[in-house]
Amino acid sequence: MESNVINKLRSNKNAEINKDFIGEKVVICGWVQKRRDHGSLIFIDIRDRSGIVQVVFDQSISEEAFEIADRLRSEYVVKIEGKVRARPNDNINPEMATGEIELEGYDIEVLAESETPPFLIEDNADVGEDLRLEYRYLDLRRPEMRDALKTKHLVMQKTRQFLTKRDYWEVETPILTRSTPEGARDYLVPSRVNKGKFYALPQSPQLFKQLLMSSGVEKYFQIARCFRDEDLRANRQPEFTQIDIEISFFEQDKFMLEMEEMIKDIFAIGDIEVDLNFDRITYKEAMDNYGSDSPDTRFGMKIKDLSEIFTESKFNVFRNIVNNDGTVRGLKVSGGADFSRGQIDKLEDVVKTYGAKGLAWFAFTDEGVKSPIAKFLSEEEISKLKEKLEVENNDLALLVAADYKTSVTSLGHLRLHLGEKLNLISEDRFDFLWVVDFPLFHYNDEEDRLESEHHPFTAPKVEDIDLLDDDPLNVRAAAYDMVLNGEEIGGGSKRIHRRSLQEKVFRLLKISKAEADEKFGFLLKALDYGTPPHGGVAFGLDRIVMILTGKDSIRDVIAFPKNQKAGSLLTKAPGEVSKSQLDELNLKLDI
Ligand code: AMO
Ligand code: AMP
Repeated sequence: MESNVINKLRSNKNAEINKDFIGEKVVICGWVQKRRDHGSLIFIDIRDRSGIVQVVFDQSISEEAFEIADRLRSEYVVKIEGKVRARPNDNINPEMATGEIELEGYDIEVLAESETPPFLIEDNADVGEDLRLEYRYLDLRRPEMRDALKTKHLVMQKTRQFLTKRDYWEVETPILTRSTPEGARDYLVPSRVNKGKFYALPQSPQLFKQLLMSSGVEKYFQIARCFRDEDLRANRQPEFTQIDIEISFFEQDKFMLEMEEMIKDIFAIGDIEVDLNFDRITYKEAMDNYGSDSPDTRFGMKIKDLSEIFTESKFNVFRNIVNNDGTVRGLKVSGGADFSRGQIDKLEDVVKTYGAKGLAWFAFTDEGVKSPIAKFLSEEEISKLKEKLEVENNDLALLVAADYKTSVTSLGHLRLHLGEKLNLISEDRFDFLWVVDFPLFHYNDEEDRLESEHHPFTAPKVEDIDLLDDDPLNVRAAAYDMVLNGEEIGGGSKRIHRRSLQEKVFRLLKISKAEADEKFGFLLKALDYGTPPHGGVAFGLDRIVMILTGKDSIRDVIAFPKNQKAGSLLTKAPGEVSKSQLDELNLKLDI
C-alpha cells in the first residue's frame, strides 16, 4: 500500500479527501494558497483545481520537510505527502469542503517556484481588469474563474448530448471563407497564394449551414466560433461562440419548442428550473411596452402611449409633436413623487443620451400635481394622464415627446435605469421569452435603402409576401429571438429556399444581380438543385454562460478574451508584422 502511494505523483485530488481518509497516507499536488507560521508549526493551504486542503508541518515530525515548508511562497507548486487527520474541534472550518480534516505533512517537494504574483489569487481580490487580462493564466486560477470555465464546458457537453440524441450532426465549416452578412464589419485575412485577394472570417456559419441543408444533412449543429469587427460592449466580443443549428423540413413551432427543451437542459446545470412554452411577444409589443426588442420582463413599469391626450394641448411641444407624426409616451414610477430636482435632472440626462429633447415630469402628491408644465395643461389632460398611467398619490409620471423610435427607446433605457436604481429586478428570476414577427427590413436613412433586420436569407411570413413590392417595411419576418432577462441569447428564422424569392429580396436590398452572384452565387446556385425548406437558430454560448454564472461581463466566461479595444493584453495581439511578411502578401502599409 505505502509504496503505491509514494511512487505516485499524486494519489488524490484535494476535494476527494474527507473524514473517511483519516489515518491514511495521501500524496497531493497543487499551488501554495496561503502560509501561516506558528513557531514550530507551519500551516499551508494547498490549492488544486478541485479545492483546498490544509497541511500542517510540525518541526518535531520532520525537520527536513519543515525547512522546505518554511521557504514556500504563494503560488509555488508542490507535491506533499502526508497523513490525513481530523482537525481539532476548534479548528473545523465549515466553509471549506475539506474543513474537517488536515494533512500532517512529512514529505514535500517543490515542483515549481513562483514570483510573487501581481495580485492575490482569490475571489473578490481588489484588482483591475487590465491586470487580470495581462496575467490571465493567474486570473484563471481564481475559483470563480475556474468555475466559469467548468460551467462552459458542461454547457457545451450538455448541448452536444441533447442535439446528438435528437439526431443532429455536428459538422465543421470553414474559418477562412467569404463574407457572411450578419451586419458587422468583416475580419479579413490576406491570401499569399492569391495575391490581392482576401478571406473573410465568418460572422457566423449561416451560408454553410444552409448549404448543408442542400447537402441532405437535414439536422446540423456546430459549436461555432464567429468573428465580428464591431463596437464592443459588456455582452459582445469580436470573437465569440454560437450554438449554431439548422434543420430541414422546418416547422417553426415544433422547432422553437425543441430549442426551449435544449435551453431547459442547459440551465439545469445551474439548478435553474425552466418552464417550457415560453411567452411569445411580437416585436411591436416589445417596442411599444418596453422600448426594446430584447425586453427585461422581470419588472413592470411599461411604457404607455399618451399621444391622444395631447392632440389639442396648449403645451406646444406636445401638440406639435403629436400632430407631426410624433408621439408622447410615458411611464410611471410608483412612489417616485419625492424624487428631488437633481434626481430628475439625472433621469433627463438618460433620455437625452438616446436622442430625447427633454423629460417632462409630474409628481402626484397630497397637495396635487407638481410639474413645470402643469400650468400649460388642462385639468382634463392631467386626469386622463393619471388614468392612462394608472397613477396614484406619491407616484411620478415621466414623459417623452418625440418620434416613435426616439420616444420608446429613450423611455426603454430610462426604464432599465430605474429598474436597476430602484432595485426592482430580482436577481433570482429567469424570464425567458421569444420575440417574434420582426420586420423583415428596416430603413437605412444614410444609405437611402432597405436593410435586413436579421440577414438577407430570412424568409418573410407567408401571409406578408404580397406586401414585398408595395409596402416592404410592413413585411414581417418568420424570425424569432430568444430573450432572457433583457439579453438576446439567440436568434433565428425560417430561410428563403426558392431562388426567385431570394433574388427579389436582394433586389429590394439594392444588391445588384452581379453583386449577389459575386457574393452569394454559390448559395443561389444551390437553391436551383433541390434545397429543402429549412430554418434554424444560433444561440450566444458566451452570453448563456454569462447569465448562468451570474457574471456582468462576457469577458469573464471566455478564457482568453479581448479588451474593449479588441486587443489581447496577454499576447498583445493584434501585433505588427515584418516587412518580409508584408512583401510576401504584396501588401504596403499606408499609416
Ligand atoms: P445573430 O447575429 O443574432 O444570428 O447571432 C446569434 C446570437 O449570437 C450572440 N451574439 C454575440 N455574442 C457575443 N458577442 C457578439 N459580438 C455577438 N453577436 C451575436 C447573440 C445572438 O443572439 N446566423 C444567425 C443565426 C440564424 O439565423 O440562425 C446569427 O448569427 O446571443
Ligand atoms: P422647455 O419649455 O424647453 O423649458 O421645457 C419645459 C419642460 O418640458 C422641461 O421639463 C423639459 O424637459 C420638458 N420637455 C421639453 N421638450 C420635451 C420633449 N420633447 N419631451 C418631453 N419633455 C419635454
